[in-house]
Amino acid sequence: MKKILILNGPNLNMLGIREPGIYGNMDYAGLCEVIKQEGEKLGAETYFIQSNSEGAIIDAIHGARGVYDGIIINPGAYTHYSYAIFDALLAADVPTVEVHISNVHKREDFRHKSVTAPACEGQIVGLGVYGYIAALGYFCRKV
Ligand code: DQA
Repeated sequence: MKKILILNGPNLNMLGIREPGIYGNMDYAGLCEVIKQEGEKLGAETYFIQSNSEGAIIDAIHGARGVYDGIIINPGAYTHYSYAIFDALLAADVPTVEVHISNVHKREDFRHKSVTAPACEGQIVGLGVYGYIAALGYFCRKV
């Protein structure tokens, strides 16, 4: 059974409340439930961490080394400037997919750049919460 860590960064605990026109109506608990159910269908164990703190996210990435088969990360706004998270992903050396609920390329210029994506196998943007499901499918079905 694959063990996948779903790591969400700052403000993702505010899903369902925060800018629903951009992020939708599903709350964080709903997001975790949908991913967990999909994991059960795909034969994956899913684990969830959300933090608003850069250090806690880095600690979670370090802790994933040798423990998880994959990380699905949405670093929130840290995506755009956290070289520390980029370095942590390289140090952990766990295959990672970066997910963004919104299409960051349709939004403000500062969101167009991801400093963390180069440490990931791939990036999924703009598919809403389905992006997490697609990333899980990638880890479970890739050949
Ligand atoms: C986000 C996009 C980021 O630019 C933003 O800061 C977020 C959420 C997304 O999922 O679309 O917090 O990562």
